[in-house]
Amino acid sequence: MLSQHTIDIIKSTVPVLKEHGRTITTRFYQLMFTNHPELLNIFNHANQKQGRQQTALANSVYAAAANIENLEAILPVVKQIAHKHRSLGIKPEHYPIVGKNLLAAIKDVLGDAATDEIINAWAEAYGVIADVFINLEEELYREAEQLPGGWRDFRNFVVDRKVKESDVITSFYLKPQDGGLIPPFQPGQYISVKLDIPGETYTHIRQYSLSDSPGKDYYRISVKREDAVDGKPAGIVSTYLHDHIKEGDVLPISAPAGDFVLDTSKETPVVLLSGGVGLTPMISMLNTLVERQPQRRVHFIHAARNSRVHAMKEHVAALADKHEALTFHAAYSEPTEEDRAERRFDKEGFIDLPWLQSILPDNNADFYFCGPVPFMKNVYQALKDWGVPEERIHFEFFGPKGSLSE
Ligand code: HEM
Repeated sequence: MLSQHTIDIIKSTVPVLKEHGRTITTRFYQLMFTNHPELLNIFNHANQKQGRQQTALANSVYAAAANIENLEAILPVVKQIAHKHRSLGIKPEHYPIVGKNLLAAIKDVLGDAATDEIINAWAEAYGVIADVFINLEEELYREAEQLPGGWRDFRNFVVDRKVKESDVITSFYLKPQDGGLIPPFQPGQYISVKLDIPGETYTHIRQYSLSDSPGKDYYRISVKREDAVDGKPAGIVSTYLHDHIKEGDVLPISAPAGDFVLDTSKETPVVLLSGGVGLTPMISMLNTLVERQPQRRVHFIHAARNSRVHAMKEHVAALADKHEALTFHAAYSEPTEEDRAERRFDKEGFIDLPWLQSILPDNNADFYFCGPVPFMKNVYQALKDWGVPEERIHFEFFGPKGSLSE
């Protein structure tokens, strides 16, 4: 238990740390990767370069500290992070490394203002927060291991099939190299893929949503090729997977993780909205719904630039033909002439509330959505404007979390 005095110090210094947030965390990563370069095998270098992970970790440490008397209040956020950590293979012994370097960074940036009393209070608080994560992650490791066919860390899978889904998205069907069982998962969950890329000093790990329904003898991921655009470098992992990984190759993957999942215990109508490659968890949910709850009303709405990059269109259209309870709509922001001529889309432009209101009977549904940040903000705002209650809005960001209401 932290003393009241320690809690008071933490609460009075949270705003100061927040104010210097970016500087402290930039310094923290510099220190940590100098002292422990092996951690570059775990962290996403691209996120590091763009400074995205810096704010994610820092903000959540401060949020936790601000709620130090009542960590229950931030449990949902902690859970989501713990899933990510479990998927990446973060271990208890990593926590003191983060703690030590974070405190050193605070000391460096704040100088004399960071008295011993303040530093000691933060060391104590960090210990409490770290224990919450460590315990939760151990529970998740155990759950992953105890499922039939389950495992704890990474396990080798063979690429059984590689299937092109659109100009930019390719699916990989993965089967365990040991020929054993694979556990079921919940639609919406993801796996981590670990890659050693020739010429790269460190290993790369990336998360990909599972894009088919559970209960098969394979896991499928569908990867978007991230080419260089507007000064943003090409995605080293996605281009390597597309260009170099072939059928028969082996990829170490971690067990399915994540808490953005379809609630199959409900019978409420479901609206699945996706933008671009955000369609992957939605296809997993859709396939599960038509297989397991064929009576449940489902509206599948996809936003893409045009038909060239609209993956799995035929698959969804075929399901919609077969299942009366399913409707399918597409919004294209830059339709081609052919798209226009063949009326391959229902709306030109981005998804907005008037369009949603014109294609959905009402707002009485569970809404699941995933896609790029502008898409997410748009959809979230539209649903809020429509009066959809928060508990029926479910979403997943690809990449580091951001705030939708910003
Ligand atoms: C991701 C917080 C400890 C490694 C994250 C994210 C948050 C976070 C908010 C982003 C989650 C997301 O995008 O879904 C924290 C907090 C910690 C902590 C509050 C301590 C109390 C650690 C430790 C390690 C670690 C000890 C390992 C040394 C990572 C990695 C990612 C991540 C590798 C993925 C993002 C990336 O690669 O850039 N963490 N973390 N974290 N965390 Fe932690």
